[in-house]
Amino acid sequence: MSAPNKSYDPVEVETLKPEEIERMRDEALAAFAAADSLDALHEAKVAQTGPTSPLALANREIGALPPHAKAEAGKRVGQARGAVNKALAARQVELEAERDARVLVEEAVDVTLPYDRVPSGARHPLTTMMERVADVFVAMGYEVAEGPEAEAEWFNFDALNFLPDHPARQMQDTFFVQGPKGTDESGSGVVLRTHTSPVQARALLDRELPVYIVCPGRVFRTDELDATHTPVFHQIELLAVDEGLTMADLKGTLDHMVQALFGADMKTRLRPNFFPFTEPSAEMDMLCYVCKGESIGNPDRPCRTCSSEGWIELGGCGMVNPRVLTACGVDPEKYSGFAFGFGIERMLMFRHNVEDMRDMVEGDVRFTRPFGMEI
Ligand code: DAH
Repeated sequence: MSAPNKSYDPVEVETLKPEEIERMRDEALAAFAAADSLDALHEAKVAQTGPTSPLALANREIGALPPHAKAEAGKRVGQARGAVNKALAARQVELEAERDARVLVEEAVDVTLPYDRVPSGARHPLTTMMERVADVFVAMGYEVAEGPEAEAEWFNFDALNFLPDHPARQMQDTFFVQGPKGTDESGSGVVLRTHTSPVQARALLDRELPVYIVCPGRVFRTDELDATHTPVFHQIELLAVDEGLTMADLKGTLDHMVQALFGADMKTRLRPNFFPFTEPSAEMDMLCYVCKGESIGNPDRPCRTCSSEGWIELGGCGMVNPRVLTACGVDPEKYSGFAFGFGIERMLMFRHNVEDMRDMVEGDVRFTRPFGMEI
């Protein structure tokens, strides 16, 4: 590049020679054509049209030319720059179109593909079943009551008239959280409740009479997990304490429950039994809801659900033992009550033909999903 001077001859200015300008133009056109992306084109644009590009530098030389030479050189450079700008714009349009077409393909959404929604969880069938049973009683005006799972030994046993040598109090049946009674300062050990019955005692102590409560909950016993046992299971407990309640009220309530859950032609029967907290106590059976008792003594109509017994054992029940009422500050001369309790796992097993209790524990969605659909 020459410095401006008075006797300036364009022919001597290398950068303004026609073939040089042509070369610069062609080089720019080739650079644009070679740019295969908008980014690459941007780089080529800066190199070929920016302030330090060969053509911009050549342009600057024009000012130093003698007047007679300015016009021709200016035209030459101007035409070259025009061609370069045109080529740049054209390549820009081309590359943008290519990009748009590519984005359309790459980001296309096929709305006909099967969708992969994160499956929302379903409630466990045991929860559904417990709520269904509780609802039967809520509809009759009972309240849902709850108690702690780590329970004072006093509520779990003493208040319910379990004498100190009752076998249920042995270590092999009960999870003791804090030493058995007498070994700690409070005098009452803490156990994982072995049944929902302690909620009876809590309700009687906490609430105004009359008391009508239903208590669903988790209970614990030191059983090994197998097809018919699990150390953690669920019970539902019922307690009614009022003036003038009799065993007929208990029987009517049980019948209503099985009718609400299994159908209008259902009924229950009571068999004498013993529980420390009820007197008299009974084992309650319900009519088999599948064969309705028709499989009894009828080999032509065997029933899998009740093993052709005609009846299905549900749980325990009875009239609240006056000693329990007294322990909870209720006058047994004025008030009487009935109670019952049964296991939810068992009910789920015979109601839905679940053969292995472990299925309820393991949390495999293939087991729970069909039940979830019921919600
Ligand atoms: N708590 C007893 C059990 O776990 C079941 C039971 C029996 C509950 C008789 C009651 C009842 O309320 O009256 O085996």
